[in-house]
Amino acid sequence: MYSIAIDGPAGAGKSTIAKRIAKELNFIYVDTGAMYRSIALYFLRKGTDPADVEAIAAECPNIKVTLAYEDGAQQVLLNGENVTGFIRNEEVGNMASKTSAIPAVRAALLDLQRDMAKTADILMDGRDIGTNVLPNADLKIYLTASSAVRAKRRYDELVAKGETCDINKIEEDIITRDKQDMSREIAPLKQAEDAVLVDSSDMNIDEVVEAIKAEFEKVK
Ligand code: DC
Repeated sequence: MYSIAIDGPAGAGKSTIAKRIAKELNFIYVDTGAMYRSIALYFLRKGTDPADVEAIAAECPNIKVTLAYEDGAQQVLLNGENVTGFIRNEEVGNMASKTSAIPAVRAALLDLQRDMAKTADILMDGRDIGTNVLPNADLKIYLTASSAVRAKRRYDELVAKGETCDINKIEEDIITRDKQDMSREIAPLKQAEDAVLVDSSDMNIDEVVEAIKAEFEKVK
């Protein structure tokens, strides 16, 4: 069984790239950000202040996140409800960046993530996969791009959906999230010592996919 870990900052294209590679290699794709996002959704719905660490820790035993697959696409269930359609927005992303810094939240997901890698060839993406969740992964990739490029990609995505947005505000949000994710005490975002750095600022999706597949060929 093989495992591939892809970590990197918000908007680096991890999930697009990871989905493509998992499909081509016939691996199961695990989007750990979606798991943190569904916990964030739980607390947004309850109106919990993300700074109230005690309230969040006390509530964690009541939250069950499970993953299911429909036609190969990951679905996230929050206490049995399929929340996949509700978690991909900035509000949930920003809340996830805050609540994921709380140890009880990370503890609630860690074993689940580790267990998934014991059952199948897995490609997992997130912030701490290579450094913490799967320290023995066969291949670790640190996928990044400049904040300006990441903001432009996000902007183009939103415009394509017909939304109006301000590219400078998007870049500011990205920089804030990077800071939060990199400076937290527990499992911060950082490149694992044995990870291969892929900077996609000047690469298209096909080029990134090919580069990562070429790295996998070297280790398999
Ligand atoms: O990758 P994403 O944007 O869906 O992740 C949302 C937030 O979840 C991110 O800002 C930090 C957190 N996260 C984490 O702390 N650890 C992971 N392995 C994945 C995500």
